Amino acid sequence: MDTATAPLAAPPAPRGVIRRLQSRQGRENPFPLFEEIRDAGPVVSLGPHALLVTGYTECLQILTDRIWHVPDHTWRAGRGLDTDGMSARVLNTLPRLNPPLHSRVRRLQTGAFTSAALERLRPTVRLLVRAHLDRLDAELTEHGHADFIDTVARALPVAVMSEILGLPTEDRALIARYSLQTAALTEPFAAPAQLAAADAAAAEFHPYIETLLGERAGTPGTDLMSQWLQLERPSSERFPHEELAAHIVFLVGAGAETTSSLFATAVLAFEKHPDQARWLAAHPEALPQAIEELTRWDPSVQNAVRVPSEDTTLGGIPVPAGTLVHASLAAANRDSAYFTDPHTLDFQRPPQRSLAFGAGVHYCLGAPLARLNASEFLPEFLRRFPTLRSDGPATRAPGLNLRTFVALPVTRRPRSAVTH
Ligand code: HEM
Repeated sequence: MDTATAPLAAPPAPRGVIRRLQSRQGRENPFPLFEEIRDAGPVVSLGPHALLVTGYTECLQILTDRIWHVPDHTWRAGRGLDTDGMSARVLNTLPRLNPPLHSRVRRLQTGAFTSAALERLRPTVRLLVRAHLDRLDAELTEHGHADFIDTVARALPVAVMSEILGLPTEDRALIARYSLQTAALTEPFAAPAQLAAADAAAAEFHPYIETLLGERAGTPGTDLMSQWLQLERPSSERFPHEELAAHIVFLVGAGAETTSSLFATAVLAFEKHPDQARWLAAHPEALPQAIEELTRWDPSVQNAVRVPSEDTTLGGIPVPAGTLVHASLAAANRDSAYFTDPHTLDFQRPPQRSLAFGAGVHYCLGAPLARLNASEFLPEFLRRFPTLRSDGPATRAPGLNLRTFVALPVTRRPRSAVTH
């Protein structure tokens, strides 16, 4: 029996686990399900060709060991999977490239996203935070309720990414819509209808960015799009606009959907854990560790996928080369073998390395930007909206990879009902 058809040696995942994770309840609170999966073992099989990993040590191994690759163009082609069309353009962006190409492309993009480079952006981010919270304030005053996602959570990161890239201010609502609609392209278990909708949005978003690139090539500015237009390959050619557009489309989605989810998660967490919100408001110096704890506790990106380039073992289980392995970063971040009392949100938790931003060569390029956005947003939000509470259930997009929110209705509690 060849390795492509031999059953995987890992214990099977509990029955219907993907369907249960995709259910409304599973998306709202996947953590009890992760524990049920972990009870079967840190590495379980999802049928004959795929594994799901919930153990912290095993996830870290997959992310950092050089034999583990992302499923790229070649891997997909080898399995007869689609490598053409709009949605396949994601295959040319960082998270779907392997070294050495990945290292070359990443080097070109890193400069703009270092903490030092981003520090220059802090005053702009501060102004954008204030403007978006002013909008929230105005909506709550006028209507008594607002949608936190539309007003702040998605709009704010889109505004920041637009400033960095030089995207037109008047198009931010359109860009926010594209960002939400194309999010399904990174989903490993997306339904055909979701993929078709994401594909249709990508078919508008890519040409939109290519048109902007064409305009900017004629009248360069100081923005990142203009800088990238000047980049050259080792062969001295400029990058085709189509390729640059794919990177920009990915960056907008990666920056907006993840940060939006972080903001919404924080707002819900403050409501459910007023003691933590109170403590953080009184200890602004603890902000960096609070951001790490929020992202550990409920990370915006829940999964990473990898395939081993050679036969290997994981948690003592043989894994044939080419097996698709889903590393559950969200489950790993709640692994009691690594974190003490992992289900508790504790802003005073001693620093430990969570996998919220991944690890290894694909470690999140935008982590410094996410931290900058959060470090400006969280204290201002806590100061100005101590009485904000949800006004109905949050709606999440039907994905397992990104914790994308579609809506989060909010209102103000009467001051008399406030305990912090
Ligand atoms: C709370 C916010 C964020 C979280 C939790 C997050 C999480 C992650 C994770 C887990 C990965 C690794 C995926 C893997 O190993 O397969 C990743 C990669 C990436 N992220 Fe983020 N991200 C966030 C914000 C951002 C922002 C703001 C940007 C935009 C600048 C960004 C851009 C990227 C890029 C370009 C990659 C691919 C890096 C590579 O493959 O070399 N992310 N992110």
